[in-house]
Amino acid sequence: MANRESFGSGFGILVAMAGSAVGLGNLWRFPYLVGTNGGAAFIIIYLAFVLLLALPIMYSEFIVGRRSQANVFGAFKVLAPGTKWCNIGFIYVLGSLAIISFYCVVGGWTINYFWKAITFKFAVADTAALGNMFSQTVTANYEPLGFMLIFLVATALIVMAGVKDGIERYTKLMMPVLFLIVVLVAVRAVTLPGAGAGLEFLFKPDFSKVTANTFLDALGQAFFSLSIGCGTVMTYSSYVSKKENVVGLSVETAMADTIFAIIAGLAIMPAVFSFGISPSEGPGLVFVTLPYIFAQIPMGSFLAILFFFMLFIAAITSSISMLEVIVAYLNEEFKMGRKLAIILSFAVVVVLGTMCSLSQGVMADFKIFGNNIFDFFDKLSANILLPVGGFLAVIFVGWKMKRADVEDELTSGGVHPFTRAFRNYVYFSIKYLAPIVVAIILIRGLI
Ligand code: PHE
Repeated sequence: MANRESFGSGFGILVAMAGSAVGLGNLWRFPYLVGTNGGAAFIIIYLAFVLLLALPIMYSEFIVGRRSQANVFGAFKVLAPGTKWCNIGFIYVLGSLAIISFYCVVGGWTINYFWKAITFKFAVADTAALGNMFSQTVTANYEPLGFMLIFLVATALIVMAGVKDGIERYTKLMMPVLFLIVVLVAVRAVTLPGAGAGLEFLFKPDFSKVTANTFLDALGQAFFSLSIGCGTVMTYSSYVSKKENVVGLSVETAMADTIFAIIAGLAIMPAVFSFGISPSEGPGLVFVTLPYIFAQIPMGSFLAILFFFMLFIAAITSSISMLEVIVAYLNEEFKMGRKLAIILSFAVVVVLGTMCSLSQGVMADFKIFGNNIFDFFDKLSANILLPVGGFLAVIFVGWKMKRADVEDELTSGGVHPFTRAFRNYVYFSIKYLAPIVVAIILIRGLI
């Protein structure tokens, strides 16, 4: 395709992919899932899923994107012209749209809390007061919408600047900062008196807490956290040149994301235990529990500012990847200028995001299948759209594409050959392992 954008360097690609993966999923979702699912046992299942299921899906999305050099709809038109596959792109566009619609609301909360941290709003408060502060913050009508808009405008501006000058440039700038901050907060947390219990919770498995639901939660989290199943990897990899290492980049992205999640756990759990708070606090963990802890420890108000700034950066480097999926689709499939594509998708997301935000307050009684709109989008994406999207990607690569083409991509045309045994394993995991296990967990979960 003429004049298509591309990333500037291999490192830039890695940072952009890691930026997409590392997000609220690591800092907000992972800790409370670990907390409610029995600690280390959940982490072990999660790691197994990343290794056995998420990676083959990531390779598959990467292969489809890079080989076609097109958006999530166009990709299948290039690789399987005239077949039904040409329609599956809508799953990915829908997935990205569903996620960004509630993600931008939480993104708004992070800016709001960053502001609260700067203005020392957490001082002298107890957990009850902080709980109230959180519920007032999210249930209000206008304020959360304002912050959501700021978040979305920032997202749109980065995407507007382009793949190389926007996405790559800003993620390269922001990710190192993010990493430094999380390490700093983690070091402070593990040196708190009584932190040992938190470490034990994170690293000593208690399998008695594991239920069937733990597996579904772990699977959904693996998809959500690695940004797979909604076309972000497919879209980013369509801007990647033929010489880059598909397997290497995928493994590095997964490692970066996992290491980040563990460090985030280290930043949060020891402090939670040190202050005798229940780790199964749920989604409010980072917005209620942490501000309380920050208010109690030396240098806490400074850490609070850093922490919420970090949460914001983590969120925005992810939201740009979701917006890019939709923008690339509109841009290429409807021959719409990039600017117009961004304005249009921005407008749609603002409407959906507004509904998600209001569903925390005035629209709380409006239910879809028993969930408010926010929870509906969350569950629809993590439990259905992402697994289905991932499933279709591995089926396509394993069963529709020729093995020779798949191997050509996996080895980048022979540049990164790997051993025969490794290639066989990867192909087996794409063709059989990932689709079968994902299908079983998905069907069990839906029943
Ligand atoms: N992986 C991101 C996170 O952990 C969320 C995300 C999901 C981003 C899907 C893009 C696509 O927060």
